[in-house]
Amino acid sequence: MEIRTHRAAPLHAEIPVPGDKSISHRAAMLAACSDGPCRLRNYLPGEDCLGTLQILRQLGVKIVSSSPTEHLVHGRSGRFLEPTGDLDCGNSGTTMRLISGLLAAQPFRARLTGDASLSRRPMRRIIDPLQQMGATFHPEGPGDCPPLVIEGGTPLQGIEYRLPVPSAQVKSAVLLAGLQALGTTTVIQPVPTRDHTERMLEYFGVPVRQDGDRISVDGGRLPQARDFDVPSDISSAAFWLVAAAARPGARLVIPDVGLNPTRTGILAVLQRMGASIHREPTAAGHGEPRGRLEVEGGTLTATTMAGAEIPNLIDELPVLAVAGALAEGTTIIRDAAELRVKESDRLAVVAHHLQAMGAKVVEHPDGLEIHGGRPLHGARLESHGDHRIAMAFAIAGLFADGETVIEQAACVETSYPGFCQQLKKISDA
Ligand code: S3P
Repeated sequence: MEIRTHRAAPLHAEIPVPGDKSISHRAAMLAACSDGPCRLRNYLPGEDCLGTLQILRQLGVKIVSSSPTEHLVHGRSGRFLEPTGDLDCGNSGTTMRLISGLLAAQPFRARLTGDASLSRRPMRRIIDPLQQMGATFHPEGPGDCPPLVIEGGTPLQGIEYRLPVPSAQVKSAVLLAGLQALGTTTVIQPVPTRDHTERMLEYFGVPVRQDGDRISVDGGRLPQARDFDVPSDISSAAFWLVAAAARPGARLVIPDVGLNPTRTGILAVLQRMGASIHREPTAAGHGEPRGRLEVEGGTLTATTMAGAEIPNLIDELPVLAVAGALAEGTTIIRDAAELRVKESDRLAVVAHHLQAMGAKVVEHPDGLEIHGGRPLHGARLESHGDHRIAMAFAIAGLFADGETVIEQAACVETSYPGFCQQLKKISDA
């Protein structure tokens, strides 16, 4: 499948986006651990999150789906069944890392597999802390990459673990294992990362203690069954936010989107670049802040993204790099080496693709220097099987002379079903 884009008129639209990917995964997993039925609404019907539901079914969880976005998950009070086959995590790092935390203490063996991209992603970051807790892991791929065999059966012991990389997936895997461990498990995060797991544990009745950079849970606490409404995904909204912010005359509304402060780095960056963004918070539902966003487009100016801000916009960096290419001046991205171990090496791919479209970009080990303001031209670009690359460059195509073709773009289905239809609507408007 290919995406074809070309320059379009300024965006004038209200665009509802699907449910949040990070929150959907966590809602399904905590519901599955809980002590009863939980109705999940606005669940992301993308391949990654549907894959998580499929794995939970293989672990004996009864899930009745009334639509792709609404699922009744019957919690198994923390006790899963031994799966018969491999657990296929597809393209999803979140699925593999968080499910590893859940399965570390279960009394059976499980084998987690993934697609070609996931099979290249580092798993040592979860294996180390989970093994310190007493779990046994056998990574089968080169460099401790997937497939990952978890030999359950050993009781886990709570640990104190300082995150060597700022990663919400690692933090979450350790906290989920900690629920099933003896004693207290503490994660120390020198740089704050998205806190959906902590918020959701509290919402499901599991106390989480936060003291500065220390986050602790006690073992032996079961989540209590709760219904959960997933807010829309600011990482999916990001593509339209940039499409509108960088175009004078554009006006965009995104209704009911998640506005958790550990995810809204993109809004601060676009505002620094000169965009007019108005937030209207609604009541925080189920522990997650949410609200309406209104953007008016203009001419953007360059900015620097670095340091503690990076985890708050890590998934938005490809499309923010596109914003940098459209802005006047030199946009700097630093402290973002983690981008090299996402669904693709996002620093290398973004640098290559922006250059192919006529931008001047210098690639650094941990970031990019984007000399913005040069006219972009259409190009034929590889997605590298990376959904956020495909969508970021589909947006770049809206600002380019000629046609931009994104090859192998079916990967957008992992996080944003409906993206291509929405893009067609605004391109045809
Ligand atoms: C996620 C955390 C981030 C992010 C990923 C989703 C999560 O990854 O990039 O898309 O749901 O916890 P890291 O934990 O590797 O930073």
